[in-house]
Amino acid sequence: MSGFDFSKRDSFGSRMGVIMAAAGSAVGLGNIWRFPYILGENGGGAFLIIYLVIIFAIGIPVMMSELVIGRRTQRNPVGAFRMLSSRRPWFLVGMMGIVAAFMILAFYTAVAGWTLEYIYQILAGGIQGKSSAELTVMFDSFRSESLRPALWFSIFLLATAGIVLGGVRKGIEKSTKVLMPLLFILLVLMCIKSLTLPGAGRGVEFLFRPDFSKITGTTVLMALGQAFFSLSIGMGTLITYGSYIPADNKLASTAVQVSMVDLFIAVLAGLAIFPAVFAFGISPASGEALTFIVLPGIFQQVSGGMIFAFAFFFLLAIAALTSTISVMEVIVAYFSEQLNMSRRTAIIIATASMFILGISASLSWGVMRDVKLFNLNIFDLFNFTTANILLPLGGLLIVAFLGWFFPGHAVRDELSNGGTLRVRYYSLYRFIIRFIAPVAIALVFLNGLGLLRF
Ligand code: TRP
Repeated sequence: MSGFDFSKRDSFGSRMGVIMAAAGSAVGLGNIWRFPYILGENGGGAFLIIYLVIIFAIGIPVMMSELVIGRRTQRNPVGAFRMLSSRRPWFLVGMMGIVAAFMILAFYTAVAGWTLEYIYQILAGGIQGKSSAELTVMFDSFRSESLRPALWFSIFLLATAGIVLGGVRKGIEKSTKVLMPLLFILLVLMCIKSLTLPGAGRGVEFLFRPDFSKITGTTVLMALGQAFFSLSIGMGTLITYGSYIPADNKLASTAVQVSMVDLFIAVLAGLAIFPAVFAFGISPASGEALTFIVLPGIFQQVSGGMIFAFAFFFLLAIAALTSTISVMEVIVAYFSEQLNMSRRTAIIIATASMFILGISASLSWGVMRDVKLFNLNIFDLFNFTTANILLPLGGLLIVAFLGWFFPGHAVRDELSNGGTLRVRYYSLYRFIIRFIAPVAIALVFLNGLGLLRF
């Protein structure tokens, strides 16, 4: 068997590169498109508090665990579990991650494609002067078309494949080092604009003043699902990225920094959106239409609106791109290392299969609208199944594996870079991954599925 040559494995070149690539994966549509509407539907500030607790108590430990597994093994998620636990079915956790990667890439790239349609419409003058009713019609009719959603999806997918083809250092690291700062600047500009609108204060209040009456078991499940989705954890993205991280990198600080950047960008997105939404007297709980109908309506009414509209959808596209590359990298690493394909072949096969899956997802309101399972169309099915089932389950199994089935000294060795770093947090971390995280994830998960009520 020819076999993959692991001595020629690519890696990240710098500390900054690691942060930018991992933050690029974390910061995405989840922060800018998903977080604001989930927050809006789940009690604003109260949701934010629960979300914060989950990030610290569960998100960061899970992220550290993924990085540990990745760097220890220098493998893709399936290869990593096979290596750490031969002859046991743990590699199935890796397989589950690959399945989740396909599903996420499908619906996620579909939404990313919508941002391209909006950029195109803004440039072509197709948004300017439209009333809310017209914008609603525009969005609905665009989504239910056959050709355009599939076309934009394909363009976005090819852009993703192009970067991944460049490799880890020359494709992923290099592009995220440029795109992430650009995204940040655009988002700060949006915040300044939004916060200076008359009546903006009510949006800030909504974001930060907790309404605990809105908190139910479902809210907590939503917060957990959002945390996993937003941090890109639970499916091996960070096992894969971790496997490219140099030996002297401090994994714990990397996990903390990446999570903080992710949280910060989500809050900034909230600050870019809610003050403007409240300034125009719109209800914050507008579902996914918040981004694609409500905001374009608001852009009509502010000075320089089309410039901000362009900036907003452009930043959304950037955020999406730095995330889609991370999901595709998982699939490509798996194909090339486990199935012995060249990187190029792996990318071609991944892209070709994504065409089929993703175009089906992007036509969920068009020709595929009647294809439903559990009353969800393909898009919603992928979205719901990954965020609320596969990612929490994956996260649970990842921490349970490290906490219970893998020697603690090896984990400690990896976190301390072979004993050269002090790891004072270690007992706390170990306690969390053995007890707190698995129990919390399991409870929230069963509750969300209606199997347990509290
Ligand atoms: N974290 C990204 C976002 O918030 C999406 C994403 C990228 C992701 N890679 C992932 C989600 C892996 C879950 C798992 O938009």
